[in-house]
Amino acid sequence: MYRGTWTWVVVLLALFLARSAAAEVAGSTSRYVRRLAESVDLPYDSPYFSVPPGENPPQQVHLTQGDYDGKAVIVSFVTIKMARPKVHYGTKKGDYPWVARGYSTQYSFYNYTSAFIHHVVVSDLKFDTKYFYKVGEGDDAREFFFMTPAAPGPDTPYTFGVIGDLGQTYDSAATLEHYLQSYGQSVLFLGDLAYQDNYPFHYQVRFDTWSRFVERSVAYQPWIWTSGNHEIDYVPEISEITPFKPFNHRFPTPYWATNSTSPQWYSVRRGPAHIIVLSSYSAYGKYTPQYVWLKDELKKVNRKVTPWLIILVHSPWYNSNTYHYMEGESMRVMFESFIVAAKADIVFAGHVHSYERSFPVTNIKYNITNSICSPDVNPSGPTYITIGDGGNIEGPAATFSEPQPSYSAFREASFGHGLLDIKNRTTAIWTWHRNQDGEAVSADKAVIRNKIYN
Ligand SMILES: *[C@@H]1O[C@H](CO)[C@@H](O)[C@H](O)[C@H]1NC(C)=O
Ligand SMILES: *[C@@H]1O[C@H](CO)[C@@H](O)[C@H](O)[C@H]1NC(C)=O
Ligand SMILES: *[C@@H]1O[C@H](CO)[C@@H](O)[C@H](O)[C@H]1NC(C)=O
Ligand SMILES: *[C@@H]1O[C@H](CO)[C@@H](O)[C@H](O)[C@H]1NC(C)=O
Repeated sequence: MYRGTWTWVVVLLALFLARSAAAEVAGSTSRYVRRLAESVDLPYDSPYFSVPPGENPPQQVHLTQGDYDGKAVIVSFVTIKMARPKVHYGTKKGDYPWVARGYSTQYSFYNYTSAFIHHVVVSDLKFDTKYFYKVGEGDDAREFFFMTPAAPGPDTPYTFGVIGDLGQTYDSAATLEHYLQSYGQSVLFLGDLAYQDNYPFHYQVRFDTWSRFVERSVAYQPWIWTSGNHEIDYVPEISEITPFKPFNHRFPTPYWATNSTSPQWYSVRRGPAHIIVLSSYSAYGKYTPQYVWLKDELKKVNRKVTPWLIILVHSPWYNSNTYHYMEGESMRVMFESFIVAAKADIVFAGHVHSYERSFPVTNIKYNITNSICSPDVNPSGPTYITIGDGGNIEGPAATFSEPQPSYSAFREASFGHGLLDIKNRTTAIWTWHRNQDGEAVSADKAVIRNKIYN
């Protein structure tokens, strides 16, 4: 071939590759496949896990929303020796006129006994205000800060970080570092935190290391927790038969604020969004508490106040990866029609260690006597985003089913995190940031139009 022909081949190939990686291309599978090697957990002596200095310093400090509307946070921290479960706080750095008190707890798991875990609800805060807070006493005291959201309202811009299946590997560290460089104001966490259960006897020390690792973000902004399969910790062989025992001791959720009877499902309103957290690993059949609660909660959603309705769940309802294929199907059958009727905007899921975004889609016509079971791509359905790609020890899920189903807009087997930038009642900008490119680049981008205000 002539040299000129080769140039054209190269140019066309480059165009082809650019096209497959581009965000807006309909129904594309990115050819970028992350290395298939297993990810490994950071060693116990990694600086990410270092214990703060002092006699009995608070460690593993983390925040989550503490009420329905964002005027409260739950501050949690751990001490090796007993300490008072209290938080000093105020609106000026170093000046803490107020104190909130909570409770302390401990749990054992096989032959592990946790340190003292403290939870304090700090409530009656002002909206849209920066608070500084202090945990621990004297020389052990540690200071942090957080911002409360604006009052729930239709045109309050707000940016959520979205992370799933994080774990504590070198890849997890890259994901967290990238997220820290973003302008995310709180995190929608889609379940599977520490992967302690990949160790013999579900080695709970890995929960402690994980909680020290994420403190650099979650001590400063709330993470909204979804429960995943790695939080179940159900191990009858060693007589550990209470599902979610370690998770529930460590990571409280404000479930009481929405009359939920379980920490595994609840909702919060934050700025322009009503966020409903569901549990893939709690009963959801007809008449079960989660089912009854969801039907009731959907009636309370007021889109005049919170235009955006966002659902979080661990196991995806739309997933074209071969990994965990159809595991979320029975829950989809139970709940999809409710959230389609409620005009939910986005359903975020984790579980599958890859990234996939759907077109707006519904599949609610099917029943056991007809044969109508193809997903219907139409603008009235929610967008489904699977982002279980935080970078955990189990490595990426790199095989997608072929051909790509009609509902699947973009999919790629890489690690990363997402940002949901809600601009106003009509428009949100979704970006996904793969770890190879860092925070500045979005490997997938979509404008998400609100289902009510468009
Ligand atoms: C817990 O049990 C395992 C397995 O028998 C053992 O290797 C480990 O040393 C024990 N840990 C403690 C704290 O007793
Ligand atoms: C919870 O239930 C109580 C009693 O029925 C009711 O007054 C309250 O409004 C409910 N809270 C929410 C957030 O639904
Ligand atoms: C299921 O489909 C059949 C056949 O189209 C229809 O007759 C029936 O009413 C449907 N049942 C429900 C519960 O929608
Ligand atoms: C909402 O935000 C989008 C994106 O920034 C902008 O194009 C649009 O004009 C805004 N709409 C309203 C009603 O402010």
